[in-house]
Amino acid sequence: MSKLALTLTINGERHEILTEPHRTLLDVLRTDLGLTGTKENCLEAECGVCTVLLDGAAVNACILLAAQCQGRSVLTIEGLARDGELHPLQRAFIDHGAVQCGYCIPGMILSAQAYLDEHPSPTEDDVRAALAGNLCRCTGYQKIAEAVLAVARDRAAGR
Ligand code: FES
Ligand code: FES
Repeated sequence: MSKLALTLTINGERHEILTEPHRTLLDVLRTDLGLTGTKENCLEAECGVCTVLLDGAAVNACILLAAQCQGRSVLTIEGLARDGELHPLQRAFIDHGAVQCGYCIPGMILSAQAYLDEHPSPTEDDVRAALAGNLCRCTGYQKIAEAVLAVARDRAAGR
């Protein structure tokens, strides 16, 4: 099968990728680039563990062809920390005890990041609705919602 030459910016770094047309963004991230922080589960846009940001918007990488990302910018969980410091959402999830097995957490945090960028003052119900596409088998969601709300409050206070 003929391959496509793609250029993607991933976590701020430009990548030239040669891949078959049927391969997903998730395949390329995990298998070709070794970015295994993006998780794999249902492969049908039901669970959210494969969530990454595409030009700042949360998407399910399992149903997105890599070719659809040509020329675009992808952020994975590996790209969120800065200068060795955890991102505030990562820190808040830890501080609020919102992480148990951890499998859903990269997608959960990236969905929260995209949401807070657009909705800086959410209620708890807003946060729960925004994260409804990210399933968690462990936490019961309460601590996750509290962590996201804490970050929203910190941002509003300029912290
Ligand atoms: S693996 Fe992509 S939504 Fe479940
Ligand atoms: S922490 Fe285990 S699935 Fe969410």
